[in-house]
Amino acid sequence: MKKVTVVGTGYVGLVSGTCFAEAGNQVTCCDINQMKINDLLQGVMPIYEPGLKELVDKNVKRGTLHFTYQITQAIQEAEVIYIAVGTPMTSSGKADLTYIKQVAKTIGENLNGYKVIVTKSTVPVGTGKLIKSVIQEHSFEQIPFDIVANPEFLREGDAIKDSMNMERAVIGATSEKAFQIIAELHQPFTSNIVKASLETAELIKYAANAFLATKISFINDIANICERVGADVTKVSEGIGLDSRIGNKFLQAGVGFGGSCFPKDTSALLHIAKECGYEFNLIKSVIETNEGQRVQLVKKLEKALGTLKGKTISILGLAFKPNTDDIRSSPAIDIIPYLAVHGANLQAFDPIAIKETKKQLGYQCAYSENIYESIQNSDACVILTDWQDVKDLDLIKVKELMKQPLIVDGRNVFDLETMKDLGFTYLSVGRPEVRQKTAASKSL
Ligand code: UGA
Repeated sequence: MKKVTVVGTGYVGLVSGTCFAEAGNQVTCCDINQMKINDLLQGVMPIYEPGLKELVDKNVKRGTLHFTYQITQAIQEAEVIYIAVGTPMTSSGKADLTYIKQVAKTIGENLNGYKVIVTKSTVPVGTGKLIKSVIQEHSFEQIPFDIVANPEFLREGDAIKDSMNMERAVIGATSEKAFQIIAELHQPFTSNIVKASLETAELIKYAANAFLATKISFINDIANICERVGADVTKVSEGIGLDSRIGNKFLQAGVGFGGSCFPKDTSALLHIAKECGYEFNLIKSVIETNEGQRVQLVKKLEKALGTLKGKTISILGLAFKPNTDDIRSSPAIDIIPYLAVHGANLQAFDPIAIKETKKQLGYQCAYSENIYESIQNSDACVILTDWQDVKDLDLIKVKELMKQPLIVDGRNVFDLETMKDLGFTYLSVGRPEVRQKTAASKSL
């Protein structure tokens, strides 16, 4: 059992802290945001994540998980301090380390004995060393401490599962003692431990996310070729994915990746490379392809409708992927303002991300948690998130509700034959177009 303090109660901090508590450690999660802490003390989660509330409640009840905004006390009491604060993207695309530096300063000022200080957030290579120097600068005596880079690989929506059953833990430590402490902490979660230097561990995280993003942009580029030569990208994915060297995961073509990680981390890696004198052209293309996917989807819609002006368009899905209310870098957040500015009337559906979207986009569209209500009287449906509600749609009912049966699908949810049989015009990504045959909608 270890005494662990986690600074930052975002996705990474809250989930990791809760899982460390579940494994029997004494965990204190802290945040400077008092409202967030007050909510957590009352059992209100700041994020939507399946299974999180139950696990938090259980561990609060049995006394292994605590919440506080008294950061100094939490630091003084800990053996291990996890830094899990945000590293947002600056306007130039670099990672902003302001919060990390603030926490390092506070740790330095409150260092009262040997501690292991661990970065969990995705941080540029060299951040571990920077934290070390900030702590040294602000600590009053020569108290020993170690730095560890222990990046997080959890996915939103699967965060608890990913954290309780890690495929691997990467630990880059400044001493063997610190490595052993963090390795022990991970024993309940995985036996695959990758021991690395601080810099290597920091880079592994960027390399992992950039590689996954590259797979997505690669298959999206292939999808764009498929559209031009009449091939089907889902079959291409199947055909290459069965080669175990390639693997079938992250080969789903679509409107492009979003979320708080891939867009930010690919951009930050580009900067890391530039700063050490290397032009990472591959990642540049990955980012460009990703941005292009959104533009192409809108072009398809515009072409099918003739004009956006005065058209009623249903936006199916606001979150960047299913099972989360996270809309950061979500395709919908780019696409909605464009459609609104060009005069379309928008009716958006999402089961849980409406509140977040309203905060960011206001009333550029009407919102509904009822998918059929948002489809009513529309000239086109645009699928941006492959929610189960979208997959389960009663397509006959959809056709009856719409003014004309046009679906532009950024997630390749439906089977082409089914759409053809039902008489839809169905434009998906990297697959042959399905055109409605009836005379009434020849223009589609
Ligand atoms: C990603 C990584 O998968 C995690 O391992 C990592 O820990 C996390 O970033 C992070 O750095 O914190 P996440 O952003 O939660 O996790 O979501 P993913 O499930 O990876 O999806 C990212 C985006 O890629 C989504 O917009 C999704 O729709 C898109 N995607 C994914 C595709 O377009 N095609 C695919 O085949 C797979």
